[in-house]
Amino acid sequence: MTDNRQATGATEQGGGENTRRVYVKTYGCQMNVYDSDRMSDALAPEGYALTEAPEEADLIILNTCHIREKAAEKVYSELGRLRVMKQQRESEGRSLMVGVAGCVAQAEGEEIARRAPVVDLVFGPQSYHRLPELVQRASAGAKVVETEFDVEEKFEHLATPSQKAVRARGVTAFLTVQEGCDKFCTFCVVPYTRGAEVSRPVSQIVAEAGRLAQAGVREVTLLGQNVNAWHGTGENGREWGLGELLFRLAKVDGIERLRYTTSHPRDMDDALIAAHRDLDMLMPYLHLPVQTGSDRILKAMNRRHTRDDYFRLIERIRAARPDIALSGDFIVGFPGETDEDFADTMELVERVGYASAFSFKYSPRPGTPGAAMEAQVEEAVKSARLAALQELLQKQQRAFNASMTGRTFDVLFEKPGRHAGQLVGRSPWLQPVQVDAPEELIGKLATVEIVDVGTNSLFGRLINGQDRKGSNVGVAIPA
Ligand code: 5AD
Ligand code: SF4
Repeated sequence: MTDNRQATGATEQGGGENTRRVYVKTYGCQMNVYDSDRMSDALAPEGYALTEAPEEADLIILNTCHIREKAAEKVYSELGRLRVMKQQRESEGRSLMVGVAGCVAQAEGEEIARRAPVVDLVFGPQSYHRLPELVQRASAGAKVVETEFDVEEKFEHLATPSQKAVRARGVTAFLTVQEGCDKFCTFCVVPYTRGAEVSRPVSQIVAEAGRLAQAGVREVTLLGQNVNAWHGTGENGREWGLGELLFRLAKVDGIERLRYTTSHPRDMDDALIAAHRDLDMLMPYLHLPVQTGSDRILKAMNRRHTRDDYFRLIERIRAARPDIALSGDFIVGFPGETDEDFADTMELVERVGYASAFSFKYSPRPGTPGAAMEAQVEEAVKSARLAALQELLQKQQRAFNASMTGRTFDVLFEKPGRHAGQLVGRSPWLQPVQVDAPEELIGKLATVEIVDVGTNSLFGRLINGQDRKGSNVGVAIPA
């Protein structure tokens, strides 16, 4: 699950004049995208406007990812570039403050400040609500390293963005409902960097969804490292899981589509499967990582289920929602993985059929049990397995996209498309769809017929001049 979107859109809040600029560079997953927006929300009342140009910024924050070694190394090379930029600024009598946030900050703390003296401020994912205070301390000349854990407090004190800031971010939004993980898969740093599993209370989530909808958001993706482990006390006093929460959020005025990511197979309960069956606005697309198709490796990874459990689960989900598309994450070359184990992964992929997937070479992460295991797999073997797996996954993705030709479904239009007069939106299965359509359709669902399929996008045409709610948008109907 990677999304290297950089934070965009100017933030204006709290009436203070925006005299300073902050640039936030986001690495890694959607949780980081969400957190980067929370950082700019926290800094807006302090007079920081968001910029997309690092050269303009007084404060540059790298919101980092520690999930694989490469992701962490990228941060250090970026810090090397920032060192040069800071020296240049200082020679011109200007200043630049550099902050490192996110999972590398949490995992490495003081080590970052030691290894990269350009850094003024290191703060982990639980400290974002305290950013104004941390920036003030760093401005006063202190090296700030803040990696305390207090997730509950964080959620309570997250700054509320202005409607204008939310609007600038578009008609789809992320909403973190859960953070941290108690699963301890043996390859994964998340339980160490994001801490124990914490669910946000229903009232906070419903209030945030309501604010998003009022600002024009039409599609909300609920986020969590282990999102379907979310649980809380419902408005009826009963214990709710993610399924019940989705039913509640479906009632929020203005929200027309719901998604959630990332899920663990062990936490797909009946209520969540029922939500896929009964809630049309829950999109028929599920990211359900299995990591490997080998029972032996599943066990070594501490995934706590077998491949048969996974097959049976998929059968139940498909029975509930036949048009559901599946996506997954895979790791090749986990310690001890033999050719036979890898063949089991290929066979699982053949049998399930994925609409899209992410696949990675195993990357030993310091402090995780996997890193200390014997029988680490050679790099060349990992590369060969990854190439074979990716070829199969890409073939499946192409076949899935090709199957869209001639189909008709709703698209939620998000922004101008590639060419003048075009808009781009998303299909229920997350594919970008390019359509000739008037700008008034941004933020609306409209019915589209797919006429062509490209490598990364689908191409469609509006099949009538009405958006789904029936307001006439005055489009000429193509013959
Ligand atoms: N090595 C390779 N891939 C990893 N992932 C998590 N940890 C590692 C690691 N140590 C992958 C998993 C996870 C995704 C977010 O990243 O597939 O689902
Ligand atoms: Fe990491 Fe496993 Fe938790 Fe996912 S479920 S965040 S892979 S420990």
